[in-house]
Amino acid sequence: MSLLPLVGSNTQVPLLDGTTRTYANLDVAASAPALQSVADRVAEVLPWYASVHRGAGYLSQVSTALYEQSREQIGDYVGAREDDVTVITRNTTDSVNLLAGCVPGRVLVLDIEHHANLLPWHRVAAGVSVVAGRDTLAGTIAALADELARETYALVAITGASNVTGEAVPVGEVVTLAHAHGARVFVDGAQLLAHRHFSLAESDADYVAFSGHKLYAPYGAGALVGRRDWLDVGTPYLAGGGAVDDASHDSGIELVETSWQPAPARHEGGSPNVIGAAALAAACTTLGGLAAAELDRHEASLRERLVTGLTALAGVEVVRLWAPEAERKTTGGEPAEPVGVVTFTVAGIEPGRVAAYLSAEHGLGVRDGRFCAQPLLKRLGLTGGAVRASIGIGTSVADVDRLVAGVRSLVEGDVRGEYVLVDGVWTLAEDPRPLVGPAGLTRLADTAGSCGASV
Ligand SMILES: Cc1ncc(COP(=O)(O)O)c(C=O)c1O
Repeated sequence: MSLLPLVGSNTQVPLLDGTTRTYANLDVAASAPALQSVADRVAEVLPWYASVHRGAGYLSQVSTALYEQSREQIGDYVGAREDDVTVITRNTTDSVNLLAGCVPGRVLVLDIEHHANLLPWHRVAAGVSVVAGRDTLAGTIAALADELARETYALVAITGASNVTGEAVPVGEVVTLAHAHGARVFVDGAQLLAHRHFSLAESDADYVAFSGHKLYAPYGAGALVGRRDWLDVGTPYLAGGGAVDDASHDSGIELVETSWQPAPARHEGGSPNVIGAAALAAACTTLGGLAAAELDRHEASLRERLVTGLTALAGVEVVRLWAPEAERKTTGGEPAEPVGVVTFTVAGIEPGRVAAYLSAEHGLGVRDGRFCAQPLLKRLGLTGGAVRASIGIGTSVADVDRLVAGVRSLVEGDVRGEYVLVDGVWTLAEDPRPLVGPAGLTRLADTAGSCGASV
């Protein structure tokens, strides 16, 4: 039973045996369906849509006010402090690239990160250091502490929860450690915020980034929220209209003077995504109304059911970053309960084949590959990738049970189709399923794309 109404929760998909089944979306960690309240809000604001920050017409005034009001609501949702600034971006990747242009010193990261929280930091002039995670959380925190004691860092960039295993990082503990060494903390909230409430003010973290499409608002907006000073003077992320106060040319081609705006305008050159911002703000309002305890209970019980079901199957192994650390709770370490993201392998069966089978024969959507976290997958010895199932507010006990039953059938050899590898992607040798989808769709994608099966 969904915690909140979602668009498309009853979508039927064709199966190999000629029947149809309600799609069970266990790939919400990649992108989540829209909340009904978000879709309703978009429909409500569309008639009022006009230029933002650029027009004197009534609708422009409405749209500009809506954009700025959305900014406030988004900031409030993540506990922005009074002097924090909220920059509307496209997604988490965009936010990290933006912040990378503003960091006035070295950056420290762990190798457990998504590429979005690794690669942009290589653009920071002062450089980045990557510390390998250890096989316990306590050991990993100690490795961070050693590195912070060894060298001066401006920023520690850390995920709130792993997009591979769902294991959460005790953000408060990292903040205390980093601040003691004069470093700020950026939290990659792409996964964490879709599963759990988070507050900058309460955690004392300095920055957080997140994506609307993972937060049930797939309308192209994300956000970076945090301390204003670096953002006010850093490299303008998108040079263009709206980002400057004044620009002049001499009679030649040289731009002789540019006076950049402070944040957020400094980083939001070009026409803003007012619909995306309004959608993200609506998601923040709706999710903010969900009691933290209810959300945690829903996730924890489904995750537990999934992990128990999968580990009981022969040849199935659930991937973990860290050994279970019950002792942390007694030694003062902050317990960090995992979010609803579970990655597993099936002995002797390629992850892509598992995912193709679960889709074609059980109507299940899961993710396979290396989850844009290749350094981590390499360290864990999973160069061939793995399968990831993720739980969201729309996931039910029946969805979880369907996945466990599907993997059990696969392990027991109850397979109807013949699966072949075509251009690196597992697919049915013969696919008799009719094409269903929105009007005008002419075919299904025949590749998992650049973040898919092969990487
Ligand atoms: C932990 C984490 N960080 C960053 C990202 C990047 O998010 P986006 O693709 O929305 O920029 C993802 C996406 O999967 C993620 O899971």
